[in-house]
Order: sequence, then C-alpha cells, then structure tokens
Amino acid sequence: MGTNEFPRGFTFGVATAAYQVEGHIENDWSEWERQGKCKDPNHRCGRGVDHWNLFDHDVQLAKEVGSGAFRISLEWARIEPVRGQVDEAAVDQYRQRLLRMKAAGIRPVVTLHHFTHPQWFHRETPWHEPSSVVEFRRYARICASILKGLDALVITFNEPMVLLLGGYLQGVIPPGIADGSKAMLAIGNIARSHVAAREEILRECGRCEIGISQNMLAFRPDRWWHPLDRALSRLAFDNYNHAFHRALTDGELRIQMPGLASTRQRIEGGRDSVDFMGINYYTRAHLRFIPKPPFLQFQYRDIHGRGLTDIGWEDYSEGFSHLLVELHHKYGKPIWVTENGIDDRKGDRRPQYLYNHWSQMLSAVRQGADVRGYLYWSLMDNFEWLEGWGPRFGLYSVDFETLERRPTPACHYFRRVAQSGVLVE
Ligand code: NOJ
Repeated sequence: MGTNEFPRGFTFGVATAAYQVEGHIENDWSEWERQGKCKDPNHRCGRGVDHWNLFDHDVQLAKEVGSGAFRISLEWARIEPVRGQVDEAAVDQYRQRLLRMKAAGIRPVVTLHHFTHPQWFHRETPWHEPSSVVEFRRYARICASILKGLDALVITFNEPMVLLLGGYLQGVIPPGIADGSKAMLAIGNIARSHVAAREEILRECGRCEIGISQNMLAFRPDRWWHPLDRALSRLAFDNYNHAFHRALTDGELRIQMPGLASTRQRIEGGRDSVDFMGINYYTRAHLRFIPKPPFLQFQYRDIHGRGLTDIGWEDYSEGFSHLLVELHHKYGKPIWVTENGIDDRKGDRRPQYLYNHWSQMLSAVRQGADVRGYLYWSLMDNFEWLEGWGPRFGLYSVDFETLERRPTPACHYFRRVAQSGVLVE
C-alpha cells in the first residue's frame, strides 16, 4: 500500500438521516418546531428535501460521486405512528428502497435511531422508564424484517451522548428534560436497547455488522496552565467520547460528570456487543472552568486562522487522526467514520477540508487503525435540527424552493478519490 493509498476494500460513501431529508414526518421534532423551539422559531422541516419521493434519484447522485455505501435512517414514527400499530406500507417501502440501493451496487448503512421518536414515545415509555427497552426491541424486530439478507452495516443509535446532553440534561432538544437522575436512567436504557436491538437483528440477518455512531470531539483545556481546565477536558474525553463505546465493549456504563450527573450500571449483554466503532467527527472544543454553574464554558476557537465554519466550528483535521488511533488502541475493533463534513455555504472550502481529513485518516491507518470506511455528511443540504435551514453540509447543494440538487465543487474531487482509492490533492 503506497503512502497515499487507502487500504484495499476501503469504502467511501455518504450519509443522511430520515427526518432531515425525507419530508412530511410527524414526530417529536416536528412538534418541537411547532412550539417555536428552533433557533429561528419559524423554521419547519416540513417537506424536508423530499428524499422520500426522490430516493432513487438521490441514490443515483450518491453513485455519481463514487459511493460504495449510503447511510440512511429508518423513521420510527413512520413505521409505528401509533404505539403497537405497524404501518406495513412504510415497512415495505423501506425494504424495497434498500433492495434497490443494494442492486445499484451500494451497501446500505442503516441507522435505527437518529434523534427522533414517535410522538407517543415520550408520553408513554420515555427513555428513563425500563419499558422503553421493550418498545425499542419491538421496533428493532420490525427493522430486522426490513434488513433481512441485506448484509447492511447497522447503527442502532446515532450520537447517544448528544441525545443525553441535549434532551435529558440541558433540555434543549426533545424530550426537553433537564434532570440528572432521569438522564442517567435514560442512557442506561439506551445502552440496553442497543443490546436488545442487536439480538433482534442478528436473529434475522446474521451477516449484518452492528455498532453505534458516537460523536467525538477533540477536547482541549482552554488554558493549558490551569489544572481545572485540564481536568475538565480529561473528563470530557472519558465521559463524552468514550463512556458509551466502553459500555458496549466491557458491559459497564460509567459516567462521572461532577456537579451534573454520575452513574455506574451493569449493561447485561453489553460486553463485546459491537462489531465496529462508529465515529462522527467534526471539530475541536476548548473547555474552561468558570466559578459558577454549570462551571464549564465550551467554545470553538479559530486557532489556525482557517476561519470557523458557517455554524462556528473550528476546522481541525489534526484531531481526527488522534481520535482514530485512540479508538484503535482502546478497543482494537474495525472503525467506520459514519459522519464527517463541513457546513460551507459557498462550497469552496469543502475540497480542502476533505483532503485534510482524508490525509489524517490515512495517517491513522498507517499507525495501525483498522478504518474500513468513510461516510461524508451529507449527500445533500438538509434540515439541521435546531439550526434549521441555515447550514449547508451537502456535497450537492439543494435549492430549497425547487428542490433541485446541484453538484458543489467537491463532487468531482470526492469521486476521483472514492473511485481510485488514492488520495490526490
Ligand atoms: C451529527 C448528526 O448525526 C447529524 O444529524 C447532523 O446533521 C450533523 N452531525 C451535523 O451537525
């Protein structure tokens, strides 16, 4: 393998999530938007970018940039809009779509839970109740029938720590709870739901590979000389980046966030319950101790003078290789980069961003990390949760009026590298 060659069989692809693209979904997020809780209270996901109707066209776009894998998510609210009542037509639609994707030569990467829930879920069986595990198992059984024979890469949960922090500790995303003890119960039940879902899926499709996508940040003390800033970034690495992955490899969930929440729980069946480590990598955060609650300040800094991205994140590719190598050393499992990308309205920074991140990924591979694939977030512009329609992550830009997809300058470059498996500038 030359120094700029990706390993044989390495897969490039693209990522999306149902709610952000499909359109016309009624779930906890659509409700949240109606309550005016996004940054711009008038933003609504609404018809999304009509991916539900343009699915085949979008698979074609993925193919045109050389994708060997395409990450979508299944929308629980579509599949089970009323508790216990399965919408068979939706189930069949998902299955037919994934079969067509596979027939087009693209490996399905399928997320079961990407932040959203049917509206009944938080009312009837919220994550802090043990019944949530029973519900998720039932949902996973339906997903297994969709995934049968597809040899998909399956992600049970996307960014569980983001759901925990935003939904159960800060209360800024659904279900809007800010309660440390409920948060700890919730995260334990999410880990148990992963185990339950894995059992259901393996029963139907023994050749699926199953894992989670973990949002990982490069944390730095804001002031190197300050012992409390240093302690905070160590805690963040350990808890935010690793607690969930660790629970699914050694079977114990340990979280210690002084002043916020702590827990130690056994996760029955959690030991060695992932086939790969999924990482979503975007940026670095600087942590600073402040002498009043919440005792922590979190900021993005433009250390290298590259300019922050449109949302205000630091473009910090250097942190990527470090996290990949660390994942390798801690767990020794195959790694999938299940998201990485830049919100870049003009689209002119994206090719360089890709080059920088791919170089770092190759450096991690040379240091022994078994990275199997890279999925760019996102195939096309879409609805960015609290940020609404502002950020533009797409390899294809979307005209939100006409829904027309247009290639950004990065498409050509992506295709060149994806098809050759060689990193060129
Ligand atoms: C993480 C999430 O999984 C995805 O839904 C989101 O749009 C991107 N990162 C960008 O913030």
